[in-house]
Amino acid sequence: MKNVVYVIMFLLFFSSVLFSQTIWLDEIDLSAIESGWGSPHANKSIEDNPLTIAGKTFERGIGTHAVSTLLLKLDGKGKSFSAFVGVDGETKSEKASIEFFVLGDKNVLWQSGVLKINDEAKKIELDITGIKQLGLLVTGSTDGIDYDHADWCDAEIELIENVPLSNLVTKRGIEPYILTPKPSDNPKINSAKVFGVRPGNPFLYTIAATGKRPMSFGADNLPDGLTIDKTTGQITGKVEQRGDYTVTLTAENEFGHAERELLISVGDKIALTPPMGWNSWNCWACAVDDAKVRASADAMVSSGLVNHGWTYVNIDDCWEIKPDAPEPELQGEARDKDGLINTNKKFPDMKALSDYVHSKGLKLGIYSGPGPLTCAGFTASYKYEEQDAKQYAAWGIDYLKYDWCSYNEIAKDRSLPELKKPYSVMRGALDKVPRDIVYSLCQYGMGNVWEWGAEVGGNCWRTTGDITDTWASMSRIGFNQAGHEAYAKPGNWNDPDMLVVGLVGWGPQLHPSRLTPDEQYTHISLWSLLASPLLIGCDLSRMDDFTLNLLTNDEVIEINQDPLGKQASRIYEQDGKQIWVKELEDGSKAVGLFYVDTRERKSPPDYFDWEKKDKTTITLNAADIGITGKFSVRDVWRQKDIGVFENSFQTEAPYHGVALLRVAGVKEKMD
Ligand code: GLA
Repeated sequence: MKNVVYVIMFLLFFSSVLFSQTIWLDEIDLSAIESGWGSPHANKSIEDNPLTIAGKTFERGIGTHAVSTLLLKLDGKGKSFSAFVGVDGETKSEKASIEFFVLGDKNVLWQSGVLKINDEAKKIELDITGIKQLGLLVTGSTDGIDYDHADWCDAEIELIENVPLSNLVTKRGIEPYILTPKPSDNPKINSAKVFGVRPGNPFLYTIAATGKRPMSFGADNLPDGLTIDKTTGQITGKVEQRGDYTVTLTAENEFGHAERELLISVGDKIALTPPMGWNSWNCWACAVDDAKVRASADAMVSSGLVNHGWTYVNIDDCWEIKPDAPEPELQGEARDKDGLINTNKKFPDMKALSDYVHSKGLKLGIYSGPGPLTCAGFTASYKYEEQDAKQYAAWGIDYLKYDWCSYNEIAKDRSLPELKKPYSVMRGALDKVPRDIVYSLCQYGMGNVWEWGAEVGGNCWRTTGDITDTWASMSRIGFNQAGHEAYAKPGNWNDPDMLVVGLVGWGPQLHPSRLTPDEQYTHISLWSLLASPLLIGCDLSRMDDFTLNLLTNDEVIEINQDPLGKQASRIYEQDGKQIWVKELEDGSKAVGLFYVDTRERKSPPDYFDWEKKDKTTITLNAADIGITGKFSVRDVWRQKDIGVFENSFQTEAPYHGVALLRVAGVKEKMD
């Protein structure tokens, strides 16, 4: 008998050794991790350095960034979880403060307490027997997520039996699906209905129109000084006389004729509708060069984006000389003898580049900052603001993103006068040059920039830190814009950062956006409702049909570009559902019904969607958007009328997705 017990014990021991499996966290599909910034890396920090906590380097693990969530499906097959956690030292910032949590089926099994930059790694050793879902969470403690680089080092899960890695993570996303019908062959004009220019400054407005080519364009009643190129639809010249001019644009092809009125306003205001275009940062970051910018301009035309009003091609950081850079192509004199800024070797001729971009009817943007160096350590404008503005104008630049970063060392403090000062200085310099340059402030929302961005002459201002292609980042930024609507108006826009659809990656390696298709519909719908600048952040030369569909629905774009210039407000938020409404010029309303499911995060379990529902029903009460009587509802993504309703309208929205509608009161016929 004794022997039988021994044999059984031996077999149990043997089978547990034989069948148990150890999984390193760095082996799983990292796209399952949501991080508040950047892309998590296996065996590297979030910024791709060796994993290092308080000076100690670890070979294995995951580098991520708060707020970071990962939900693993163990189905009771877990045995133990162990790891060392802490703040990665790469930022060297005292501001880093994070807290790690391990959750088992909604219960906190372990928590680190607040960890700071030089705190030793904390060891986790947990029995996870019987746990169905294991949640790994990093929060930004109580001071936000700035500098919160978080490492899970030597992180191992022991299982009682073999489980394929792919079964452990919830596969994010479903197949992309296209909602919008392709534009017809008939001509249709899509470009903005209002356009502002300063008297005497160079004018460029390209008629954006869909329809079969060849197409011939016209513009009746152009003010003196402007002419139209009938084959390209480019209107150019200069208008000296202030005033509002109503012009009739026309487009004609073998299938028909289209007309649309354009109001040209010659005065002090530009950017009368939110700027639309592309920016190099979210795809190429510092891997940007002249060829990539030209390729983007080419693709903006060849993909047809230009026919929907996309205009700006903006170079972000890394075109300047980088003092002390090891790379030869970045070295050189930062400025010439007159203090005019030099480009690095990746941009051999900025004027030629701008001529190239303009020849396509597009506009060129550039990037600098008020400090001595840009965020990526390249030469910026401190004490050379006038020379820089002059140089941009001479090159033919149309857009300037002006990024705070190293001005931190110059500013005495974060008081309002100190926050405003450098932006007013560059405004003054831009006002001295004979060119319309859209002025985009980038200082991540400090001092409630939305309250004074217009006062210092900004055409738009970033209201947040950097976006990344995760639901956590995009939804937090987007849905946090509630309350900023009072400050948006023609010429002055809140900017919740650039778009993260398509192939992104902060270069040179790119990956498809980690947002699910429904999350991407939410992203574009919300940014349109928010009257945000729309700056595409992906590689334009490699867009798939889904991405192109997201960016070329003219009814969605029209919501963003509406001449009234109102930003949507949130009118409803409950049970993970939100309703946002934007007033439009014709008296109708754009309405977004979102199934957000970001419940208020009061405690660690709230960070996870433990029981995710595929869709939900959302009800819009007409009275809540100021409509009485009957109203018509149009599905904007499908470009289809849904019908006429009274009092309320109900529809389904997918998980993390949206129903985007255009709603208008219907006048009852008198008998
Ligand atoms: C900051 C900005 C980004 C980008 C980089 C460039 O992080 O917020 O949008 O411009 O700098 O270095």
